[in-house]
Formats: sequence, C-alpha cells, structure tokens
Amino acid sequence: MTHSLEDAMTALRAGDVSHAGDICDGILAQTPDDPRATYVSGLVKYQKNEIRPAIETLVRAITLDPTSAEYHRSLGSIFKNTGATENAVQFFEQARLRDPDDARTHVLLADALKELGDFDRALAHYHQGHHLNPDDPETLGHIDKLEMVIDLSRALLEARETGATAICDIGSSRFGHPASLHLPQSSIDFVQAYKSNLDARANAYNAVGLKGAFGDQGAIMPHYVAEWIYDDYLSIRDHLPHRADGVLDIGCGFGGLVALLQLHYGPAQATQFYLVEQAEIPGAEFSRPTPNAPSLDPLGCARDLLLANGVAEDHIHRVASDHAAALSDFDYDLIISIRSWCYLYPIETYIGVVHGRLRPGGRLVVDVNKSIGGLAALQEHLPDARLISNRQDLERCLYVKPGA
Ligand SMILES: C[S@@+](CC[C@H](N)C(=O)[O-])C[C@H]1O[C@@H](n2cnc3c(N)ncnc32)[C@H](O)[C@@H]1O
Repeated sequence: MTHSLEDAMTALRAGDVSHAGDICDGILAQTPDDPRATYVSGLVKYQKNEIRPAIETLVRAITLDPTSAEYHRSLGSIFKNTGATENAVQFFEQARLRDPDDARTHVLLADALKELGDFDRALAHYHQGHHLNPDDPETLGHIDKLEMVIDLSRALLEARETGATAICDIGSSRFGHPASLHLPQSSIDFVQAYKSNLDARANAYNAVGLKGAFGDQGAIMPHYVAEWIYDDYLSIRDHLPHRADGVLDIGCGFGGLVALLQLHYGPAQATQFYLVEQAEIPGAEFSRPTPNAPSLDPLGCARDLLLANGVAEDHIHRVASDHAAALSDFDYDLIISIRSWCYLYPIETYIGVVHGRLRPGGRLVVDVNKSIGGLAALQEHLPDARLISNRQDLERCLYVKPGA
C-alpha cells in the first residue's frame, strides 16, 4: 500500500514518528528532490531529537522550494527551541515576507524578538498577530504581559539611573483599580545582583538550554525577573481568596510577588504580610550572587519593596527560616510558595504550618517539583490539592482548606 505525505503528517501528529519517517523515505527514494517530502522528513528528524540533521534537511527543503513560508517558519521554530534565537528571528522574518497575513508567524517572531530584548518590535508583531487573528486570546495575553514588562523594565532602569524609587503606573485594567508599583533602589540592586549571579552561572544554565534567557545584553536584564513575577501573579490571580488578612510567602525572594498582591488587594485591605526566607546561606541563589560578592538580604529587600508600596511597617513580618517556629503564632488566609518549598526542599519543612495555621477556607498555592513526585507527593499530605498549572519542571498546585 502506498502512502501519501498527508499520511506522513497524520502519523507525525499522532506521535508515530518512525511510520512517518518510513513514508518520507519511501517517497524520497522515488523522488529525491521532492521539497515537501524533504520538509516532512526534516520534521521527523526533529521529533527524533536529531537536531543537526533536522536543520540540514529543512535547509535543503528551503533550497528546493524557497517560496514556502511554512518551511521557513518551522526552521525558525527549531532554532528558537534550541536557543539560537537570532537565527530564529531571521527565518521567521523570511516566513513573514512570504506570507505576511499569517498570524502565527507574527506571534512566533514576537516571542523571539522579546527574548532578544527587542520589545518594541515584539509588541508590534503581537499586535499584528492579534489584528490578523482577533479570536486568539493567547495573543492578547502576550500583549498584556509584554506591555507590563516594558513598563516595569523602564521603571527599573530609570530607578537605576536616578538612584531614586521608580514609579511604574500599571493602569487600572490589570488590578481593577488604579495601581502604581513603587520600586526602591534595593529592589533594583537585588535584581542586578541576581543577574550577575545568573551570568556567573551562565554555563550551568546554558547546559540546560536556557542560554537565550540570560544572554549578555547590558548590565541588567530586569525584564525576565519582571516577566516571571507578573506571570506568576497571573497564574494565581483567579485562585486568590477574595479577602486576605494574612498572607504568608514561603521563600519570598525579594518580595516581587507579594508587592503585586498588595496591589491586587489594594489599600482598602490592610493585609498582614508574613515573609519567610533564608537569612543567608553561602552559595545560595539569592543570598550570594557570586562567590566574592557581598551577600544579599532578601528579607530586607522585600520589606523595602512592601514599605514603598504602602504597607505599614507593623504589617510586615520577616521570619528567618531558622526561626520558622514563629510562623505558628499567626493565622493565614493565603499561603504561597513559588519555586521554593516542595520545589527546592522537602514538604515536611512547612507542612505543619499549613495544617495548623491555614484558616478554614484559606488557600495554599505551592509549586511541587516533578522530580520529587509533583501533585501526587503533595496529595499524600493534602488529598484535596489539585493542579492549576503545569510548567516545565514543576506543578503549580492549589489546596483549599475545608470548613469555611
Ligand atoms: C527560586 S527562589 C524563588 C523566590 C521567589 N519565590 C520567586 O518565585 O521569585 C527560592 C527561594 O527559596 C528560598 N529558600 C531556600 N530554602 C528555604 C527555607 N528553608 N525556607 C524559606 N526559604 C527558603 C531561597 O533563599 C530562595 O529565595
């Protein structure tokens, strides 16, 4: 029975990579210069994780048919996924020239430009993608996030230049009321030291394929920090309790997420913030950016950030992790731990506080490392916990304490 290229594509989509490869090989044995068979065979190689042969085969497909936007776009995607973002931009641009009305290409191009820090062009292409496909809510999400990141980055850079607290007008649409984020100098220093730390450890990050994210573009790349934190906020926003008198952030870092929670709840709610962090541990990510750098004080930074955003001093409670027993003196409506507890260190560390001090109806949002069991590991202690988002190496989970 003879198979067509459509069959090969169907097999590829269904994950039957070797069948797809066999079909392509059969067609190419008859017609070695068939551009589409060459193209699909390149996709098959990519699926088999044969990256270099995949790239070479797609380049050959493009040589055989230089008019195809699809071939250029696919090659761009492979470059993007392998961290060669500049090459990705080139091929997405070529795809766009061949098919200017393809919304996907604009969005892919925007993603790559954003990764390179070319925000203005990235935003223009997201808008173009949205214009061409207004029904895709994801593109609107990209626009919202990038606009936020641009505003935050500007404020961070401005604060770095002036040495003063920067004020970032976040607009009223994001938080349902007018909101400005105030960024004091210590936050900027923290982000900058964090960036130096990432640079110092660049080889380790490169090895796991995150090179593009930490490219050497200037002394500070605040937008990744801004984007991570805003993205974290968006991912938990719909799960936040309506009212939160007591919020505990376990492993709060420099306090970026709690600062956004202060904006979320607004000045009308006088939330008490409880922040737990390591005081300082040599070599730890947030406490010592490079072996010779002065140590960082995440709890001090988090306090400055909350103070700058209108939280009263007596509403900020800092607890060093070696004094964590003090957390049992309070009650919480919301406990969050993003990329910290259950992700970096065992569930036993703080499960007692959650069991004992989360109020009935209160919520826990916690990231669980997939390599230590993810949601299932959490459910051994909290059977009602459920998944709210699934990310690269972690599962973000929600637990609502019964009995409100
Ligand atoms: C990857 S960072 C995440 C920081 C922050 N939650 C965020 O998402 O940006 C992990 C944090 O957990 C902190 N940490 C490590 N062990 C801890 C412990 N036993 N108690 C509290 N925090 C801890 C680290 O110092 C670090 O700030």
